[in-house]
Amino acid sequence: MCDSSLENKLELYRRLVELSRHLASTLDLDELLNRIVQAAVDLCNAEAASILLFEENKRQLFFQASTNMAQPLMRGLKVPVDSSIAGWIVTHRKPLIVADVSRDPRFYSRIAKVTNFPSRSILGVPLIAKEKVVGVLEAINKKDGEFDQQDEEVLMTLGSQAAIAIENARLFLQSDLISEMVHELRTPLGSLNAATHLLLRPEITDEQRKKMILIIQSETKRLSEMASRFLDLSRLESARVQFQAQEIEPVILLGECVGITRSSMVERGLQFVWDVPETLPTIVGDRDKLKQAILNLLSNAVKYNSENGTITLSAWVEDRHLAISVNDTGPGIPEESLPHLFKKFYRVPGTEKLAQGTGLGLSIVKKIIEAHRGEIKVDSVPGEGSTFTLYIPLQYRNRDLTGTATL
Ligand SMILES: Nc1ncnc2c1ncn2[C@@H]1O[C@H](COP(=O)(O)OP(=O)(O)O)[C@@H](O)[C@H]1O
Ligand SMILES: [Mg+2]
Repeated sequence: MCDSSLENKLELYRRLVELSRHLASTLDLDELLNRIVQAAVDLCNAEAASILLFEENKRQLFFQASTNMAQPLMRGLKVPVDSSIAGWIVTHRKPLIVADVSRDPRFYSRIAKVTNFPSRSILGVPLIAKEKVVGVLEAINKKDGEFDQQDEEVLMTLGSQAAIAIENARLFLQSDLISEMVHELRTPLGSLNAATHLLLRPEITDEQRKKMILIIQSETKRLSEMASRFLDLSRLESARVQFQAQEIEPVILLGECVGITRSSMVERGLQFVWDVPETLPTIVGDRDKLKQAILNLLSNAVKYNSENGTITLSAWVEDRHLAISVNDTGPGIPEESLPHLFKKFYRVPGTEKLAQGTGLGLSIVKKIIEAHRGEIKVDSVPGEGSTFTLYIPLQYRNRDLTGTATL
């Protein structure tokens, strides 16, 4: 137990304040997190401490800093949100003391195996900055006795300082999307690297060689797609992009989009249903950008469809908006994924097996539609299909489109 005498408590808080001054002075995330875990060990009299950061768009946690464990082994180690103590803390946004992890079903025991470090007791607190959970700070194995209320208080205070610092460092890192892009480049580059190494081996069969070449081909294609989509997105995000306001005949625009995707539908043996009235009111918007948005939805409906599936393109007027919807009969989207769908790089778990992609298409669509002061909605029944609907305001004047800061 922590000594709860007044003097000790004062000493603890003196050290906390000192630490928080240090924390505020660095934007180097690694250095910062190392200081925090060290402080957690000292202040709570624990054998070890770790910080796991929360990747909201992927619904997972990963180890980012730790006092005791072999760093290369530990770092980046993923922990599922749904079956771990850290995950519980993230989901419930509450601290948690577990006196004996071996009796707690939430404990994710794989960690102990990988790190060869047995955990007995854990005190964990959520790291919350601006209402957002950014991670978890855990003190592991109280040196004598059990973690108590005072340890929890100390760790919470430390955690709140840490969360703000983490958020600052992250905002700094992400200010121009670069770090995210670099992160996402690692996977395709890794497979390219592995494939070229294998190709150099003299003993591989022709069949293996062909397989490697196909991998290289598809990963290269994915990288180049990622690069151009990423460029689109960064332009949209930084408001450097120019939107041209034009009068658009929706029926003609939709016809062009179908013309472009038709061959990919045929290739996949999909039925197409044109559910668009003969005339629709004109809208004002950026023709190329809207076309890009609709094409993105159609290409998803092709990629994520079932064999012999159907795609239905509909359009109608609703509540002073032009509505355009793309419906497919594919696997659908699980409910828990819906809130994440429009985030950059997010792909529904398991999607990699269905089709290649970057997870950037829908965030581009959303940005384009929002620049038109419109909305995008998604409805999906898992196992039956999905419908994405765009709502574009009809009462749109030239000046609205070109004159706003969002464009
Ligand atoms: N019509 C759809 N049916 C099922 N899942 C979809 C559909 N459209 C998008 N998704 C899911 O949303 C994710 C993000 O879509 P998107 O941003 O277009 O990325 P990408 O197509 O590159 O994977 C996809 O990876 C997929 O998991
Ligand atoms: Mg897509």
